[in-house]
Amino acid sequence: MKACVITAERSVEILEVPDPVLLGPAGAIVRVEATGICGSDLHLYYGALPPGGLHPGHEVVGTIVEVGPAVRERQVGERVLVSAVVGCGTCPSCRRGDPIACPNGGPVAFGTTGQIDGGQAEFLSVPAADLFTMPVPEGIGVESAVLLTDILPTGFLGAQMAAIEPGETVAIFGMGPVGIMALAAARLYGPSRILAVDMVPERLARAAAMGAEPIDATGGLGALGVLEATKGRGVDAAIEAVGLRETVTDAISSVGPRGRIAMVGVNLEMDFPFPMASAFFKALSFRAAFAAIPSTWANLVPLVDSGILDLGDVVTHRMGLSEAAAAYEMFDRRADGVFKVLLDPTR
Ligand SMILES: NC(=O)c1ccc[n+]([C@@H]2O[C@H](COP(=O)([O-])OP(=O)(O)OC[C@H]3O[C@@H](n4cnc5c(N)ncnc54)[C@H](O)[C@@H]3O)[C@@H](O)[C@H]2O)c1
Ligand SMILES: [Zn+2]
Ligand SMILES: [Zn+2]
Repeated sequence: MKACVITAERSVEILEVPDPVLLGPAGAIVRVEATGICGSDLHLYYGALPPGGLHPGHEVVGTIVEVGPAVRERQVGERVLVSAVVGCGTCPSCRRGDPIACPNGGPVAFGTTGQIDGGQAEFLSVPAADLFTMPVPEGIGVESAVLLTDILPTGFLGAQMAAIEPGETVAIFGMGPVGIMALAAARLYGPSRILAVDMVPERLARAAAMGAEPIDATGGLGALGVLEATKGRGVDAAIEAVGLRETVTDAISSVGPRGRIAMVGVNLEMDFPFPMASAFFKALSFRAAFAAIPSTWANLVPLVDSGILDLGDVVTHRMGLSEAAAAYEMFDRRADGVFKVLLDPTR
């Protein structure tokens, strides 16, 4: 089959690779219909790669073409969305939709570590398909279905971990697709103000159209902008949706006493210079996590379906898998008003 492979730093190729095989008797093979490019793929694009490169792609909607003998609830021909994150598929945590707490080698995201190939390809092999796929619900379009595979649960987790009380003030660092999902989710908690921090004009405008106050972070002034906008008090909660060292520090600097910081941006540094003095003297809470995606679907689908969770038009570009190199390059440069890109493996 054809698959996107990040072969080296900033080098994306479409290569002929072996067709995937079932990952155990509970696995399934999905023919990919649409797959997103995520900010997490950019970390790989910037060179965080195992030797030999990586087949990325963890946001997949498609049709089941093969099931293992132990699959009970899915069948060939069914259209499904796939959780970006999976676990062993047998432990109690996996069975309740929480692969993050899987003690048996989980959690692992498709196409990020080399352990399990990703879905920017014609086919994706999914372990424990009963747990880690869901039939695309009636009334949910392909674009929303892709958002449910990863970034909507992630943005929602950001808002949940921020524990926003009605009337509070919130800052969100990063108005990429994940930050916008966090913004949409944060609104449901009834904050009085949401300050949206980024430096890309269209992204700030998108946030403003969703009721947030844009703060331009150009020149490293994001936290200062939040402090100015709150007359030096800082916000009650900050959501970090970038993953850079600067934005983690900005999120910590931008909250007031007893502030909460919820980090969903990915930063895997082991020697991160955590500002202990701020944490101590301001009595801060800091949480970071990735989302237990399957466990969120039952709550998120009705919110999307009813329009209560208003996501706006998130997908700006639909391109062929054959154009993946150009798509990555554009998503990285944040050019052409790009926001979410979906790849179609038939093109
Ligand atoms: N926790 C999870 O499970 C999970 C899931 C998906 C993505 N992520 C992570 O979320 C992050 C965002 O993903 P995305 O798809 O939205 O990516 P993205 O690259 O499109 O968005 C990042 C945004 O941050 C902005 N930014 C950069 N520097 C900034 C600064 N100093 N101040 C303010 N904004 C700044 C960029 O302009 C961009 O709009 C990534 O780190 C990604 O790995 C986490
Ligand atoms: Zn992702
Ligand atoms: Zn498990």
